[in-house]
Amino acid sequence: MTGKPIKTRRLAGDQAGIAQAASILRAGGLVAFPTETVYGLGGDARNGEAVARIFAAKGRPSFNPLIVHVADIEMAGRYGILNAAARDLVEGAWPGPVSIVVPLRPGADLSPLVTAGQDSVALRMPDSPVALKLLREFGGPLAGPSANPSGRISPTTADHVLKGLDGRIDAVIDAGPTPQGVESTIIGFLGDRPSLLREGAFVPSLDDMEVETVTTDQPIAPGQLASHYAPKASVRLNATRAHPGEFLLGFGPVAGDLTLSTKGDLVEAAANLYAALHECDARDVRKLAVAPIPEHGLGRAINDRLRRAAAPRD
Ligand code: TXA
Ligand code: MG
Repeated sequence: MTGKPIKTRRLAGDQAGIAQAASILRAGGLVAFPTETVYGLGGDARNGEAVARIFAAKGRPSFNPLIVHVADIEMAGRYGILNAAARDLVEGAWPGPVSIVVPLRPGADLSPLVTAGQDSVALRMPDSPVALKLLREFGGPLAGPSANPSGRISPTTADHVLKGLDGRIDAVIDAGPTPQGVESTIIGFLGDRPSLLREGAFVPSLDDMEVETVTTDQPIAPGQLASHYAPKASVRLNATRAHPGEFLLGFGPVAGDLTLSTKGDLVEAAANLYAALHECDARDVRKLAVAPIPEHGLGRAINDRLRRAAAPRD
């Protein structure tokens, strides 16, 4: 990372904090904001310099496309072309933890950096009162990748954001821990049938949506890169007990040094996942073992993140 450190302010999630955040964003600055999934690193999606600053702050190795956060479906339609299936989905699911990838509307006023020069765009209306107030007050689209340094664990609190990005961004709006804890599900509407591009927090009705899972090795979504969401520790999955020297992350019947949900609740486990991984980093855990998580509902997204955390690192 180059560039002099800047002072990062912690803003409250009230009217004054949101107004301050919107004015920083209008000036091309960066503000991390809460969503129902994880904290996002917001910048004006129409302003190429603001978007470039997002990549610099995160230390992203390449210009991957970013999700564009919108205040409503009408705003989504200004930037993307929603076919009938996409429209059906968002009318039922927004605001909520599902992002859609649709054709970019020709002439849309977005920085090409946001779409990585592709002719598709990812759109999302988050289900968070603070995020929605910010989007309305700002009055435009916000690029918003997760507010963590590239390749590290996503943030579910303002403290996590500051741990990774203090001095690199203008402000963070602190509205407490995010309720859902894993990123949005991403569904593509570019071909004849919807395709699942990333498992995530949106579970209901996905099973009966006839969504095709993408089989290509091509990582169009960086969440699809193998080593991602990585804590500093090595990670062993499906552990029913700790080996010597291991720190055990428990679930349900497997009690750990930390437990994602003692009652085996996948919603609670998803909400606690990244905070638990941050805690392992804070405790300088070197070897982490994780209890089996059932592969259904939100368990699919949790296991997806854990497999990436366990993947070989570069
Ligand atoms: O829950 C979330 O989605 C969080 C919160 C902050 O909203 N955001 C998030 O953004 O996870 P990010 O940038 O970390 O992940 C965005 C994903 C990436 O994997 C990116 O490649 C994919 O969306 N994406 C964005 N635009 C795309 C496009 N045009 N085509 C395919 N994938 C795209
Ligand atoms: Mg991310």
